[in-house]
Amino acid sequence: MEQSGAETPSIAYKVFTFEDKKENTQESLSVSIPEVLDPQYGMYVWPCAVVLAQYLWTCREELRGKTVLELGAGVSLPGVVAAKCGAQVILSDSSNKPLCLENCRRSCEANSLSNVPVFGLTWGEISPNLVLLPKLDIILGSDVFYDPEDFEDVIVTAAFLLRRNPGAQFWITYQVRSADWSIEALLQRWKLICVEVQLDQFDADQSELAGSTLPGCHSVQMMIITPRTEDARWSGI
Ligand SMILES: C[S@@+](CC[C@H](N)C(=O)[O-])C[C@H]1O[C@@H](n2cnc3c(N)ncnc32)[C@H](O)[C@@H]1O
Repeated sequence: MEQSGAETPSIAYKVFTFEDKKENTQESLSVSIPEVLDPQYGMYVWPCAVVLAQYLWTCREELRGKTVLELGAGVSLPGVVAAKCGAQVILSDSSNKPLCLENCRRSCEANSLSNVPVFGLTWGEISPNLVLLPKLDIILGSDVFYDPEDFEDVIVTAAFLLRRNPGAQFWITYQVRSADWSIEALLQRWKLICVEVQLDQFDADQSELAGSTLPGCHSVQMMIITPRTEDARWSGI
């Protein structure tokens, strides 16, 4: 149940430090994420988030100057990392979850990010907020496929944005919760393809990342979703 907003939430700040081990440089990035002590979904960092954030950290050169939208951001670890790496980031969460939107703003404040717009964007809804977005390069989704009832809505939103933004990609992390769940048929229906990025390619094949105990024993996959090539030039939406 959503809190009324009248009470002050109990917040704990969790620090994530990303380091460049392969290059053996001194480069590192620390971000502080306020987690709300509440069992709701968007109130704390999920195992998927630290894996996606690690991927963003390894792609930091590529991110600089790009426009990035995070869907279902919750406490927005990936979005904050992308912004700290020099991307122009927009954060979104469900229009029906004002407390999650508040979390996005709190995460930005905790990391001195003053130019990050935060707004309500509910998957599957073609709302004015969605239609009025600026040109995007990358869309992020950390653990947005956690309830099969929402899978198609997430994909509808992604398909809409990918076709409006030729060349854009949807970078997701997916926590394997059931062997019976799959997004494959939906990707086909919406003319999208998906390429898995192996975790060892970006040093995420570990149970502890960025100085945290996440992703722990959870099985997380990193994938890049794009329009199917023969449809790539179609931008009819
Ligand atoms: C499992 S949490 C993941 C949060 C965050 N991305 C992470 O990995 O730490 C799912 C997020 O999706 C958001 N969400 C749930 N249903 C949604 C919907 N229909 N439209 C947009 N966001 C939604 C929730 O509010 C929550 O923040």
